[in-house]
Amino acid sequence: MTMPSAVEPKAPNKDEHSGGLLHHCLGHFATGVTIVSYRAGEGTRGLTINSFTAVSLDPPLILICLDKRSNAIEVVPYSGFAINVLGSDQKDLAMHFSGRKRASVAPQWRDVGGVPLLSSNLAWLRCEPASVHDAGDHTIVVGQVMDFGASGRDPLCFFRGQFLQFDDIPSPVDPKN
Ligand SMILES: Cc1cc2nc3c(=O)[nH]c(=O)nc-3n(C[C@H](O)[C@H](O)[C@H](O)COP(=O)(O)O)c2cc1C
Repeated sequence: MTMPSAVEPKAPNKDEHSGGLLHHCLGHFATGVTIVSYRAGEGTRGLTINSFTAVSLDPPLILICLDKRSNAIEVVPYSGFAINVLGSDQKDLAMHFSGRKRASVAPQWRDVGGVPLLSSNLAWLRCEPASVHDAGDHTIVVGQVMDFGASGRDPLCFFRGQFLQFDDIPSPVDPKN
Protein backbone atom coordinates (compact mmCIF):
# COMPACT_ATOMS: atom_id res chain seq x y z
CA MET A 1 0.00 0.00 0.00
CA THR A 2 1.30 3.42 -0.89
CA MET A 3 1.10 6.04 1.83
CA PRO A 4 -0.63 9.29 0.90
CA SER A 5 2.02 11.91 0.31
CA ALA A 6 0.67 14.13 3.11
CA VAL A 7 1.83 11.62 5.77
CA GLU A 8 4.88 10.23 3.99
CA PRO A 9 7.82 10.39 6.38
CA LYS A 10 10.29 13.08 5.43
CA ALA A 11 13.61 11.60 4.31
CA PRO A 12 16.29 12.54 6.82
CA ASN A 13 18.33 15.42 5.50
CA LYS A 14 21.93 14.96 6.69
CA ASP A 15 22.62 18.70 6.91
CA GLU A 16 19.47 19.44 8.90
CA HIS A 17 20.02 16.57 11.33
CA SER A 18 23.74 16.77 11.92
CA GLY A 19 23.71 20.53 12.52
CA GLY A 20 22.17 22.47 15.33
CA LEU A 21 18.63 22.48 13.86
CA LEU A 22 17.54 19.15 15.33
CA HIS A 23 19.19 20.05 18.63
CA HIS A 24 17.32 23.36 18.56
CA CYS A 25 13.99 21.60 17.86
CA LEU A 26 14.52 19.01 20.62
CA GLY A 27 15.29 21.84 23.06
CA HIS A 28 11.59 22.81 22.91
CA PHE A 29 10.74 19.72 24.96
CA ALA A 30 10.88 20.99 28.57
CA THR A 31 12.49 18.53 30.98
CA GLY A 32 13.69 18.20 34.52
CA VAL A 33 17.41 17.97 35.22
CA THR A 34 19.22 15.07 36.87
CA ILE A 35 22.73 14.09 37.84
CA VAL A 36 23.70 10.47 37.31
CA SER A 37 26.18 9.57 40.07
CA TYR A 38 28.41 6.50 40.25
CA ARG A 39 31.68 5.14 41.58
CA ALA A 40 34.73 4.79 39.37
CA GLY A 41 37.56 3.08 41.24
CA GLU A 42 38.03 5.04 44.47
CA GLY A 43 36.37 8.16 43.10
CA THR A 44 32.83 9.52 42.93
CA ARG A 45 31.70 10.82 39.55
CA GLY A 46 28.60 12.38 38.08
CA LEU A 47 27.19 13.83 34.89
CA THR A 48 24.22 16.07 34.22
CA ILE A 49 21.55 14.50 32.04
CA ASN A 50 18.00 15.31 30.96
CA SER A 51 17.36 12.11 28.98
CA PHE A 52 16.05 10.39 32.11
CA THR A 53 12.68 8.72 31.40
CA ALA A 54 10.32 6.52 33.37
CA VAL A 55 9.83 3.20 31.54
CA SER A 56 7.94 0.65 33.65
CA LEU A 57 6.38 0.32 37.11
CA ASP A 58 6.28 -3.49 37.11
CA PRO A 59 9.11 -4.31 36.94
CA PRO A 60 10.42 -0.88 38.01
CA LEU A 61 12.53 0.42 35.11
CA ILE A 62 13.89 3.79 34.00
CA LEU A 63 16.20 4.73 31.12
CA ILE A 64 18.97 7.21 30.44
CA CYS A 65 20.81 7.98 27.18
CA LEU A 66 24.58 8.37 27.41
CA ASP A 67 26.74 10.10 24.82
CA LYS A 68 29.30 7.60 23.53
CA ARG A 69 31.98 10.31 24.01
CA SER A 70 31.23 10.68 27.74
CA ASN A 71 33.45 9.28 30.49
CA ALA A 72 30.33 7.74 32.06
CA ILE A 73 29.89 5.37 29.11
CA GLU A 74 32.89 3.34 30.36
CA VAL A 75 31.28 2.63 33.75
CA VAL A 76 27.53 3.30 34.07
CA PRO A 77 26.26 0.52 31.73
CA TYR A 78 28.13 -2.03 33.87
CA SER A 79 27.63 -0.96 37.50
CA GLY A 80 25.19 0.54 39.98
CA PHE A 81 24.29 4.19 39.55
CA ALA A 82 21.91 6.76 41.01
CA ILE A 83 19.60 9.32 39.42
CA ASN A 84 19.54 12.56 41.45
CA VAL A 85 16.61 14.74 40.34
CA LEU A 86 17.68 18.34 40.96
CA GLY A 87 15.81 21.00 42.87
CA SER A 88 15.36 24.59 41.68
CA ASP A 89 18.33 25.80 43.75
CA GLN A 90 20.81 23.30 42.26
CA LYS A 91 21.67 24.95 38.93
CA ASP A 92 25.34 25.29 39.97
CA LEU A 93 25.55 21.50 40.41
CA ALA A 94 23.96 20.96 36.99
CA MET A 95 26.60 23.22 35.42
CA HIS A 96 29.42 21.64 37.45
CA PHE A 97 28.56 18.14 36.22
CA SER A 98 28.06 19.14 32.58
CA GLY A 99 31.75 19.72 31.93
CA ARG A 100 31.90 23.26 33.34
CA LYS A 101 33.55 22.46 36.68
CA ARG A 102 33.25 25.26 39.23
CA ALA A 103 35.77 25.62 42.06
CA SER A 104 33.01 27.03 44.27
CA VAL A 105 30.89 23.85 43.96
CA ALA A 106 31.69 21.12 46.50
CA PRO A 107 29.12 18.31 46.11
CA GLN A 108 28.20 16.46 49.32
CA TRP A 109 27.59 12.72 48.95
CA ARG A 110 26.08 9.93 50.99
CA ASP A 111 26.24 6.21 50.28
CA VAL A 112 23.11 4.19 49.51
CA GLY A 113 23.71 0.50 48.78
CA GLY A 114 27.26 1.18 47.60
CA VAL A 115 26.20 3.96 45.21
CA PRO A 116 26.96 7.66 45.83
CA LEU A 117 23.94 9.91 46.14
CA LEU A 118 23.89 13.71 46.41
CA SER A 119 23.05 14.40 50.05
CA SER A 120 20.46 16.93 48.85
CA ASN A 121 18.07 16.44 45.91
CA LEU A 122 14.42 16.64 44.87
CA ALA A 123 14.14 12.87 44.30
CA TRP A 124 16.51 9.95 43.83
CA LEU A 125 16.56 6.44 42.40
CA ARG A 126 19.27 3.83 42.93
CA CYS A 127 19.54 1.58 39.89
CA GLU A 128 21.29 -1.50 38.56
CA PRO A 129 21.79 -1.76 34.79
CA ALA A 130 19.11 -4.09 33.34
CA SER A 131 19.89 -3.80 29.62
CA VAL A 132 21.96 -1.68 27.23
CA HIS A 133 20.92 -0.66 23.69
CA ASP A 134 22.96 0.89 20.92
CA ALA A 135 21.31 4.07 19.57
CA GLY A 136 23.37 6.11 17.13
CA ASP A 137 25.80 8.42 18.91
CA HIS A 138 24.21 7.51 22.27
CA THR A 139 23.75 4.31 24.29
CA ILE A 140 20.45 3.68 26.06
CA VAL A 141 20.90 2.24 29.53
CA VAL A 142 17.76 0.73 31.07
CA GLY A 143 18.07 0.65 34.85
CA GLN A 144 16.19 -1.48 37.35
CA VAL A 145 15.11 0.68 40.29
CA MET A 146 16.36 -0.86 43.55
CA ASP A 147 15.52 1.97 45.95
CA PHE A 148 14.09 5.49 45.68
CA GLY A 149 12.89 8.54 47.59
CA ALA A 150 11.45 12.03 47.06
CA SER A 151 11.23 15.32 48.91
CA GLY A 152 8.78 18.18 48.55
CA ARG A 153 11.17 20.66 46.92
CA ASP A 154 10.60 22.58 43.68
CA PRO A 155 12.18 21.25 40.46
CA LEU A 156 14.98 22.62 38.27
CA CYS A 157 13.86 22.63 34.62
CA PHE A 158 15.62 22.86 31.25
CA PHE A 159 14.03 24.49 28.21
CA ARG A 160 15.57 25.93 25.03
CA GLY A 161 19.07 25.63 26.48
CA GLN A 162 18.20 27.49 29.72
CA PHE A 163 17.84 26.35 33.33
CA LEU A 164 14.46 27.56 34.61
CA GLN A 165 12.19 27.41 37.63
CA PHE A 166 8.39 27.29 37.58
CA ASP A 167 6.30 29.82 39.48
CA ASP A 168 3.15 27.73 39.94
CA ILE A 169 4.33 24.46 41.49
CA PRO A 170 1.54 22.44 43.14
CA SER A 171 1.99 21.56 46.83
CA PRO A 172 3.56 18.15 47.42
CA VAL A 173 1.10 15.29 48.06
CA ASP A 174 1.61 12.22 50.24
CA PRO A 175 1.60 9.22 47.81
CA LYS A 176 0.23 6.97 50.58
CA ASN A 177 -3.03 8.99 50.90
C1 LIG B 1 20.80 20.15 30.73
C2 LIG B 1 21.81 19.14 30.23
C3 LIG B 1 21.38 17.88 29.85
C4 LIG B 1 22.30 16.91 29.40
N1 LIG B 1 21.83 15.66 29.07
C5 LIG B 1 22.71 14.70 28.70
C6 LIG B 1 22.23 13.38 28.43
O1 LIG B 1 21.04 13.08 28.51
N2 LIG B 1 23.15 12.44 28.09
C7 LIG B 1 24.50 12.74 28.00
O2 LIG B 1 25.29 11.83 27.70
N3 LIG B 1 24.96 13.99 28.23
C8 LIG B 1 24.11 14.97 28.59
N4 LIG B 1 24.56 16.23 28.87
C9 LIG B 1 25.99 16.53 28.69
C10 LIG B 1 26.86 16.00 29.85
O3 LIG B 1 26.42 16.52 31.10
C11 LIG B 1 28.33 16.42 29.63
O4 LIG B 1 28.77 16.01 28.36
C12 LIG B 1 29.25 15.88 30.71
O5 LIG B 1 30.44 16.65 30.71
C13 LIG B 1 29.63 14.42 30.52
O6 LIG B 1 30.47 14.04 31.60
P1 LIG B 1 31.47 12.82 31.51
O7 LIG B 1 32.17 12.90 30.17
O8 LIG B 1 32.43 13.05 32.68
O9 LIG B 1 30.70 11.53 31.67
C14 LIG B 1 23.68 17.23 29.32
C15 LIG B 1 24.10 18.51 29.69
C16 LIG B 1 23.18 19.45 30.15
C17 LIG B 1 23.68 20.83 30.56
